[in-house]
Amino acid sequence: MPDTVSSRGLSPIDTAKYAAARRAVEFVQNGMKVGLGTGSTADWMVRLLGQKVRQDNLHILCVPTSKRTADLAHAQGLALTTLDEAQWLDLTIDGADEFDAELNLIKGGGGALLHEKIVATASDQMIVISDVSKQVDTLGAFPLPVEVIPFGLQSTRALIEETLVSMDVAGRKTTLRRNGDALFKTDEGNHIIDLHVQRIGHARQLALALNQLPGVVENGLFIDTCDLVLIGHGDGHVDAQGIHDPAAAEDMALGGKNIFTDL
Ligand code: 5RP
Repeated sequence: MPDTVSSRGLSPIDTAKYAAARRAVEFVQNGMKVGLGTGSTADWMVRLLGQKVRQDNLHILCVPTSKRTADLAHAQGLALTTLDEAQWLDLTIDGADEFDAELNLIKGGGGALLHEKIVATASDQMIVISDVSKQVDTLGAFPLPVEVIPFGLQSTRALIEETLVSMDVAGRKTTLRRNGDALFKTDEGNHIIDLHVQRIGHARQLALALNQLPGVVENGLFIDTCDLVLIGHGDGHVDAQGIHDPAAAEDMALGGKNIFTDL
């Protein structure tokens, strides 16, 4: 039986992640099919969801977005299935590297952007859980991950750099993501090129341009995918940012209570 998830002794940043994750799992109801994101914030969510399922005796089916999340979810006793079995999900909860006022995202810091985008797109609702450091006016300070197939890697990289010349961005440096001495490999056996663009003027245009290049599998810009961001803070309170009506988002997400009394 996994340990009870506790917030005791957490750093402010982990308290923020924990608080956002804890609020997000309140959206999960009996019978739901739920997409599980990847990353340190999503890890909190998976552990808290496991605890909720055990405590409330919920019957839900989960689709993990990475092997890492699958292993953690399995250890938590969550019932796992594939996206092909589930076909469509009620809700996906995931972290992000950046989000803007339109709830457009940069994701892929953990290298799971391809599965994350497929799972989020196949969901009625995507909730992002985040600490406040990921909130930006303009996307792009976080390097934009692009997943590419191994064949012709350097040609694809050159094509990406050439494409950036005609895009509204402030930088064109690219780096191949590494894992120690080797190139980083995604769960699909692909590689990641990180684009150090610094500022993205037209995120939709850049996302479309990148995905048209041969060799590119997917990019880390999530446009019109996220419905709600739950923003955790170091003191345990949570803000909500929705796509349409901010007040409605606060109300829907928080129901008037914006701090956990035990944090
Ligand atoms: C993984 C992701 C993560 O959601 C993103 O990198 C945020 O991670 P963390 O919660 O650890 O900051 O996109 O591919």
